[in-house]
Amino acid sequence: MSNGKEKLPEHVCIIMDGNGRWALAHGLKRNDGHRQGAEAVRAVTEYAAELGIAYLSLFAFSEENWGRPKQETEALMTLILEYIRKETPNLMKNNIRCVFLGDRNNLSSGVVERMDACMETTGNNTGMTLIIFVNYSGKWDVLQAVNRLLETTPTPELPLSYESFSGYLTTVGIPDPDLMIRTSGEIRISNFMLWQMAYTELYFTSVLWPDFRKPDFEAALKAYNNRKRRFGKIEESN
Ligand code: FPP
Repeated sequence: MSNGKEKLPEHVCIIMDGNGRWALAHGLKRNDGHRQGAEAVRAVTEYAAELGIAYLSLFAFSEENWGRPKQETEALMTLILEYIRKETPNLMKNNIRCVFLGDRNNLSSGVVERMDACMETTGNNTGMTLIIFVNYSGKWDVLQAVNRLLETTPTPELPLSYESFSGYLTTVGIPDPDLMIRTSGEIRISNFMLWQMAYTELYFTSVLWPDFRKPDFEAALKAYNNRKRRFGKIEESN
């Protein structure tokens, strides 16, 4: 796909949707769809790292997902644990640093411990940063930033700047996403990184997440390359 002029997004984030519909279409259970979704996670992570993407963010479990039946939320947590156990050696092999973000309050100590262990093991890797969002929502992130700001600095220097406020978000140090991909044909951002996606290019595809592979990722990158990012300004030549 290269003509030497493509620009690679520095940060790609993905809302991985359609696991349930994939399972239904294959006569399987919803949890089988999630399991297959974890395969897509592995494939896409490796491809993104190989391409030289600096940050890849994956929305694995939203705050709202707790509203699903208990057996499904438990299966998703088990899948995340299994993913960490199985994938940490591959992350090491591919020099990928893995970070978990989200509200830890409702997570079991077992999940928190394994997330921490994976972050520590991969923490010195210098290649791509993979950010897995577990029990995350964009509104929660903004609110925890306000709470933490008031807790740590009861009389902050006012007015706050965008930059100083961003320093309290869980994504501190991570550049805002350049490209957001959502699979399965749904066209919304579902409370993902609300503050951080102010100027992100949005790409929607009808491909169900478990089927999402290299050609689908390439199609998204191609679409991104055809976008003109003006950030509210006009083009230089106008
Ligand atoms: C949305 O599909 C997907 C999720 C709620 C879970 C995403 C989880 C994975 C892809 C696997 C685990 C992740 C990692 C990082 C190991 P849906 O269930 O809403 O699908 P539907 O809309 O078709 O029902």
